[in-house]
Amino acid sequence: MKNYKCRVCNIEIKELMSFGKMPIANAFVKNKNDDQYLFNLKIGFCEKCFTFQVLEIPEAKKMFNNNYAYLASTSQVMKNHWKELGDKLIREKKLEKSSFVVEVGSNDGIFLENISKKEIPHLGVDASKNVCDIAEKKGVKTLNGFFGISIADEIVSKHGKADIILSTNTMHHIEDINNVAEGMSKLIKDDGIIVTEDPSLVEMIKKNSYDQIYAEHMYIWSLASMNSLFNKFNLEVFDIENNNFHGGCSRYFIGKKNKRKISQNVIAHEKLETKIGINKISTYRKFIENVELSKKKLNQLINKIKNEGKKIVGYGAPAKSTTVLNYCGLNYEAIDVIYDNSATKINKYTPGKSLIKINNSSDFEKELSEYCVLFAWNHKDEILNKEKQYSKKGGKWIIPVDGIEII
Ligand code: TYD
Ligand code: ZN
Repeated sequence: MKNYKCRVCNIEIKELMSFGKMPIANAFVKNKNDDQYLFNLKIGFCEKCFTFQVLEIPEAKKMFNNNYAYLASTSQVMKNHWKELGDKLIREKKLEKSSFVVEVGSNDGIFLENISKKEIPHLGVDASKNVCDIAEKKGVKTLNGFFGISIADEIVSKHGKADIILSTNTMHHIEDINNVAEGMSKLIKDDGIIVTEDPSLVEMIKKNSYDQIYAEHMYIWSLASMNSLFNKFNLEVFDIENNNFHGGCSRYFIGKKNKRKISQNVIAHEKLETKIGINKISTYRKFIENVELSKKKLNQLINKIKNEGKKIVGYGAPAKSTTVLNYCGLNYEAIDVIYDNSATKINKYTPGKSLIKINNSSDFEKELSEYCVLFAWNHKDEILNKEKQYSKKGGKWIIPVDGIEII
């Protein structure tokens, strides 16, 4: 097996597992026989800086292009979630017309929209042009580019330093992560706060949610690894909050070292990580065993249902479904169609060999299948509530990861 370099601290790390050939998770295809870019999805863990990472990364341009399919504003629950964070920051940091808020990976403006409505100076940075255009239409000032030291310097010279830098569900997207953390350290005011939020490694291990791993999620962060990264640039995590969004995320509050008291939440989370063994390679070996078992269980269930001659459809075509479908070898023969509400995905096919047609979720009410795989399991409450009629008709939901729950 080949050895790789840790992208945070540059030491050699070993491959832990390969998921086999994978497409880019968000590269939904227009026509079934379109050419697709495939790469080997392999994972590794660095025992020095504790960063869990994907080892071979496709070129950034292949993932974050002018046709980026992921639109943050497809979920009302997520919209409320980011509005609450905006309100909290405005209150606690007393943000006003002389403040400056920067968001790295601002997508369709889901967070900055509320900052913009309050007339607080702001700037979003995003690598995908199509989402920048959507944000601009909402009145969110946006710069199209890859954030790093040079964009940080450019922003400082044009607008000054930032009171808040927000980066949600983006820190796991960036190959040259040292460049981004250093850029943030140059852009943030001495008393400013960097807020990052990403799927949590603790939650991934606890829930066995291996579908968090794909090309665009090239790291699954923990408190330990976040601190290893930011400590290099004289920054530290001083507070942490955990939530259930995106299958379980941690929100890190990061500031200049030794400026603030480290919160009780941080101390408690450190203890939890130690208990779970987040810094031990043996934890990941066990995780891999659980992943393989989960694949086996899902295949057994799907084969059983198909052998009974029953129909299976899917709900939600998140990036996560690309990992599940391709790793478990499921395609349009197993799952007839997937329903989703993203305009960027409807009428396309799921990537890789799976090639399952994506229909508008507004048509789901007519669906008469016996089973529906809830690929967007992280939105379970919102979706099951919206689609109550499916269960009433006798339809059953399947959660495709971990123990493969049937609801
Ligand atoms: P999400 O879990 O947000 O993202 P990721 O791609 O990072 O794994 O994706 C959820 C998908 O589910 C997205 O394609 C939109 C879709 N969806 C619906 O179709 N209907 C809904 O009510 C919700 C909440 C999501
Ligand atoms: Zn490392």
